[in-house]
Amino acid sequence: MRNPVRVAVVGLGYWGPNLVRNLAELDAAELVAICDLDRDRLAAVGRRYPAVRTTTDFEDIVADTEIEAVLVATPVSTHTELGLAAIESGKHVFIEKPLASSTAEGLKLAEAARKAGVLIMPGHTFLYSPPVRTIHKLLVAGELGDVLSISSSRVNLGLHQTDVSVVWDLAPHDFSILQFWLGETPTHVSAIARACIVPSLPDVAFINLEYESGAIAHVELSWLAPSKLRRTTIVGSKKMVVYDDTSNEPVRVFDSGVMPREPSTFGEYRLTYRAGDILSPAIDAVEPLSLQLRDFCTSIREGTTPRSSIAVGLEVVRLMEAVDRSLASNGGRVAVGRLPIGADDALKGHSVGVGSPAAAPAPGVGERAASRRQKSPRVAAES
Ligand SMILES: NC(=O)c1ccc[n+]([C@@H]2O[C@H](COP(=O)([O-])OP(=O)(O)OC[C@H]3O[C@@H](n4cnc5c(N)ncnc54)[C@H](O)[C@@H]3O)[C@@H](O)[C@H]2O)c1
Repeated sequence: MRNPVRVAVVGLGYWGPNLVRNLAELDAAELVAICDLDRDRLAAVGRRYPAVRTTTDFEDIVADTEIEAVLVATPVSTHTELGLAAIESGKHVFIEKPLASSTAEGLKLAEAARKAGVLIMPGHTFLYSPPVRTIHKLLVAGELGDVLSISSSRVNLGLHQTDVSVVWDLAPHDFSILQFWLGETPTHVSAIARACIVPSLPDVAFINLEYESGAIAHVELSWLAPSKLRRTTIVGSKKMVVYDDTSNEPVRVFDSGVMPREPSTFGEYRLTYRAGDILSPAIDAVEPLSLQLRDFCTSIREGTTPRSSIAVGLEVVRLMEAVDRSLASNGGRVAVGRLPIGADDALKGHSVGVGSPAAAPAPGVGERAASRRQKSPRVAAES
């Protein structure tokens, strides 16, 4: 890219260094500064990138007029405060999943970004994962037929987080993938969870999701499991898919199903089972994070809406709130509901492309932004 976006990364714990590494290798970005409260972490990452400025004070990032965009990889409880400060200084913002601790905070961020004319993008990395995109293409092409059910296991031993439950840590992955695949938000959820190790902090959860289309999904999340599982099964009316993110054949398509036959007598149901070929599509070997960060930079420069849009980020947060409501009612079935009144305004024009933080919005930006406005949380089919 001829005009790379000048970026800073805040938060260099477990995940931030992955953002730094990918940005340093990306032609669409120029890594200008890194920031962490922890001097040792800052120094460790800084040593690898001697030309990059380092600071323990986020105010230095906000005040630095050379920085056009800030990537926030700090704990969830800090996302809104840091995101708002960056937006108010006219910088584009990428916020690691989950976008915020509540829908209200997420909408505050969206509204601030709209007012400032900057891009805000949540970091839902799996939307850029080649296996996830392959399955999306199969769904869009109608290869699987109607989606009947989906079940997912995302379990391993640790890492126990101290500020959020396993739901707020791991569910953003499954919820964003399901949103992308199905193009709809569940109408109802029910969930049970248990805090096995740290009191009051659930580390295992079983979540049921119901969709208007009739599809149902089950998501199992745990930090307390003997081995790592990243496995999702999609049962369609025509074919079935197993997506195993730990396998070197991550997507397998089963030409299998069950067909009811014409009953020969009244009340008699006869079924035909079909177990046909199993296909393992070729999957691109690209790091999803690199694709995601390129999308962030391109969306800034071209004023386009990233695949991991603010609308997806808000839907994911809304779903986790619904899960928490279900947990608070001992596993009751709760309605997910709709975004609050006024949310449309906050989402309006959230992806305004401006070349630099100092640049005034180009004429006509308002109209273009309005036409890009997300009318519903549906995720558009991949082009
Ligand atoms: N996209 C993914 O696949 C993925 C994977 C893991 C984590 N994450 C997300 O990344 C974020 C960070 O998670 P983590 O596991 O790296 O957390 P972590 O606790 O390991 O690291 C957070 C870092 O932020 C720093 N920090 C906190 N407040 C700060 C502030 N005000 N200014 C500067 N630095 C500050 C801390 O010192 C720490 O080094 C979370 O939102 C998490 O959900 C995303």
